[in-house]
Amino acid sequence: MSKPFLSIERLTQQYPDGQGGTLTVFENASFGIEKGEFVCILGHSGCGKSTIMNILAGLAEPTSGVVKMDGFAVSGPSLDRGVVFQNYSLLPWLSALKNVTFGIKARYPSWSADKVEAHARDFLAKVGLEGDVVYRKPSQLSGGMRQRVSIARAFANHPKLLLLDEPFGALDALTRGTIQEELLKIWSGTEQTVFMITHDIDEAILLADRILLMTNGPFARVAESVEITIPRPRSRTEIVEHPNYYAIRNHLVQFLGQRSKELAGQQSDVPDQRPETVRIDVSETETATEGSAPPPLRAVNT
Ligand SMILES: Nc1ncnc2c1ncn2[C@@H]1O[C@H](COP(=O)(O)OP(=O)(O)OP(=O)(O)O)[C@@H](O)[C@H]1O
Ligand SMILES: [Mg+2]
Repeated sequence: MSKPFLSIERLTQQYPDGQGGTLTVFENASFGIEKGEFVCILGHSGCGKSTIMNILAGLAEPTSGVVKMDGFAVSGPSLDRGVVFQNYSLLPWLSALKNVTFGIKARYPSWSADKVEAHARDFLAKVGLEGDVVYRKPSQLSGGMRQRVSIARAFANHPKLLLLDEPFGALDALTRGTIQEELLKIWSGTEQTVFMITHDIDEAILLADRILLMTNGPFARVAESVEITIPRPRSRTEIVEHPNYYAIRNHLVQFLGQRSKELAGQQSDVPDQRPETVRIDVSETETATEGSAPPPLRAVNT
């Protein structure tokens, strides 16, 4: 089997626990992401999602293990990987517009200043920031606006891999819906690969090809990879009508409510912790020939 675009191999992260001991956040986590895939990761607060993302971004070194992108080990940040941080991380001395043009100039050094600015304005407009607001500095923007600048900045650079840490957390429901749809448009027209952390189950089902489920820490595991068996294009109002929607949703809720805790804190001696693939497709059950035994609701291949 060929190697995936992004390959996470036996990643372990430990920190001092502040009391002279060691906190193992996760151990020997291994999974792959294919080129062009949209993968969301769900797990309780503190299980290690941002830690994994910072390692994928090349901003943190794992205690052990390796991340490979296109076959090369990730070390240090790169313009091929765009990050939207949980806390936005804008440059406070630059306006919203300059926060976006800054990265575009580095990515496309041959572009004229006019072209860079037009491109930045285009992406700011996609996230609903137009007019005078683009001249404001981060301290003069609301939390939701800052988050949108951060999203525009990452998307405008067309990175091969987009790493999004709860990118819509500070947005009201209405803006969130619009920007989710904008993200799907941007992503579907490209070969970009997306790895996104979210706490919102419905958002994950709307956006993802697969959802990775993490157990609680310490010794957290990426326990399952749940396929979203709902065809694209998807819209928020229509996916809820799909027969698989509630079956998938219930599975995720059940995992986060119960199994993530049951599986927590279990140290394992397996050298390679890979998630099991979960495929839920009740539409297959519905179309099964009458009288024949329905296929199982949950097909698991390891
Ligand atoms: N620099 C650090 N030093 C010590 N412990 C750390 C450090 N960074 C993170 N941790 C610990 O590692 C664990 C995972 O943190 P992380 O930020 O990855 O969680 P998360 O899943 O992103 O949570 P949230 O959903 O709240 O953002 C937590 O227990 C946290 O306290
Ligand atoms: Mg986090």
